[in-house]
Amino acid sequence: MSEQKPAEKKLIFSGIQPTGTFTLGNYIGAIRNWAPLQKEYRCVYCVVDEHAITVRIDPAKLRQKTLEAYAQLLACGIDLEKSLLFIQSHVPTHAQLSWVLNCSTQFGELSRMTQFKDKSQKHPDDVNAGLFDYPVLMAADILVYNADLVPVGEDQRQHLELARVIARRFNGRYGDTFTVPEAYIAPVGAKVMSLQEPTKKMSKSDENPNAVILILDDKDTIIRKCKRAVTDSESEVVFREGKDGINNLLTIYSAVTGKTIPEAEKEFDGQGYGTFKLAVGEAVADHLAPVREAYTRLISDKGYLKECYTRCGAEALRYSMRVLNKVYRKVGFVQSELH
Ligand code: AMP
Ligand code: TRP
Repeated sequence: MSEQKPAEKKLIFSGIQPTGTFTLGNYIGAIRNWAPLQKEYRCVYCVVDEHAITVRIDPAKLRQKTLEAYAQLLACGIDLEKSLLFIQSHVPTHAQLSWVLNCSTQFGELSRMTQFKDKSQKHPDDVNAGLFDYPVLMAADILVYNADLVPVGEDQRQHLELARVIARRFNGRYGDTFTVPEAYIAPVGAKVMSLQEPTKKMSKSDENPNAVILILDDKDTIIRKCKRAVTDSESEVVFREGKDGINNLLTIYSAVTGKTIPEAEKEFDGQGYGTFKLAVGEAVADHLAPVREAYTRLISDKGYLKECYTRCGAEALRYSMRVLNKVYRKVGFVQSELH
């Protein structure tokens, strides 16, 4: 990544929390869009371990999950010749900028974030300031690279909207500093639902393992979970209001095969749910097989992983330092020779 931003290529930033093995929802809604974007954009991707400690997580587990997340992202096709992939806590400019942005963010704005409301309800004994402030660190992640586009799933739209508000407010107060980022939400599969309760999103933290397909699940497991997916008492494979389970399976099938939903409906016309579910399971398993193979290779080579995240982290730091220094100047901090 060159230090000067060439006018023709836009910059993409995205981050993902290392809180567990990625699900098919993470994959379809977010990660699988990251690799193709590398063709057209300069991409900066990050495993956001600092966000992960807003809920209690065992330190050894966090360390392990961070490396696993890093290897899973590489396995999904992040190419380090083209993009940066690093670990958030290695690049202190994010946290430094978030402090400054805190002072351009309103208490009321953060109180309205639905993720904060959900998570504080889920963990009523630990409604910590980090959980409240989470979206400001996320805004800093994005703004410290002056990112143009941010690929995320639908559920992150509200956080991204806040990042835009903060960027505009800061620019208004201190003069043009930040690019106001746009959300980049994939049209198909922006929201993959739970296989067991198809009105709820598929989530890493679901307690029922049958509700969630993990990107590292083996073929048999994937097929078994698809076969057990909750559907309805009809028998027609069509996308229609009220058929949440079938709608979800059609969405998944379409996302992994590239076929449109009408094409899929036609393919399974007159066939029962059993045949359809098996086909979905096979299509998902075939699609994910190369990811699983690449992951197995990568995770056993810790030396290689370290070399990758160290090199990318150093470059991300160099780049983001320039933006941070500009921000420090704008807000009136005395220039320092220390960094
Ligand atoms: P999370 O698992 O909440 O840390 O989300 C990581 C990324 O995956 C975010 O960009 C989410 O929007 C996306 N994501 C998570 N779950 C789903 C889902 N069920 N369907 C689509 N995208 C999702
Ligand atoms: N909050 C995002 C999520 O839960 C993760 C994230 C942190 C992120 N910083 C980001 C996503 C910056 C995009 C850009 O999915």
